Amino acid sequence: MNGAAARLTNFYEMLLMIDILMIGPYPEWDLADLEARYRVHKLWEAVDRDGYIAERSENVRAIATRGELGASARLMSKLPRLEIVACYGVGTDAIDLEYARKRGIRVTNTPDVLTEDVADLGIGLALAVCREIPRADAYVREGNWRTSNMHLVTRFHGKKVGIVGMGRVGTALARRAVAFGCGISYFDIAPRTDLPYPFVADLVELARSSDFLIVTLSGGKKTKNSINSEVLHALGPDGFLINISRGSTVDEAALLEALENNTIKGAGLDVFCNEPDIDQRFLSLTNVVLQPHHASGTVETRKAMGQLVRENLAAHFSGRPLLTPVV
Ligand code: 8YV
Repeated sequence: MNGAAARLTNFYEMLLMIDILMIGPYPEWDLADLEARYRVHKLWEAVDRDGYIAERSENVRAIATRGELGASARLMSKLPRLEIVACYGVGTDAIDLEYARKRGIRVTNTPDVLTEDVADLGIGLALAVCREIPRADAYVREGNWRTSNMHLVTRFHGKKVGIVGMGRVGTALARRAVAFGCGISYFDIAPRTDLPYPFVADLVELARSSDFLIVTLSGGKKTKNSINSEVLHALGPDGFLINISRGSTVDEAALLEALENNTIKGAGLDVFCNEPDIDQRFLSLTNVVLQPHHASGTVETRKAMGQLVRENLAAHFSGRPLLTPVV
């Protein structure tokens, strides 16, 4: 074995000594790769989670989590040797970043690689809800077409789209909506001088002037319930709400009330307050299209996300700079 090969073998042997706590499952190809390199502990398989963590607490040096699962201060505090939390997802609102910062625990996420898929689903949900694609599909399957024509629906192209949160996903969404001939305006904490779209500083005002309000905000305390009853009221009986951000950004009780009373026309939702045990009232509504938090759920994107998680872990444990650090 030459010097370089020996060094590589040593590196992998060293990695094998490292214990990683996985909070939820990753696709098989990521799991297999992680298991070949590290000692992997699968928390989601444990019946007694606290006991499972206690048995391993002295060894765990990394957490591999997912956007919606995060890592709480309570969990991290049980792991005295924890060095890094690698998140399979861009949103780190479920990770206690303040606690991680205080303890010097590094945190990474998976930005950029999922942006285009999430924007695709934003447009997909807008089309699905206003063109009533799921209902039309059911109409054909149930044989109703043979006896009558389906009721008419609402168009998407040319409509006014208000984007709430003009970050990576918001920008990608705007590009797509422009191609549909839509007029774009947006709300954020500050105007973006690099973009041609009008900035609206008041969310209620944005809702009032939009046919489609598409939410791409990050989750967390600062954005909690940004879409409240006042915003929904301003969106009005012909307006549609699309949420591809986090359930927490929308006041869900107000949204359910608006949908049940038709004070907005419809909603396309990828995210909810209590995933996956979502409020059952959503299931009986015909003016909403539901998705299982799947905006980044394509094979292509999930492969890129998994690779980024693995590369961040490998970088950390070999002393190289992290690729996509958050903390
Ligand atoms: C993923 C996400 O669905 O990027 C995020 O923040 O929530 C999503 O892309 C999730 O992290 C995968 O479980």
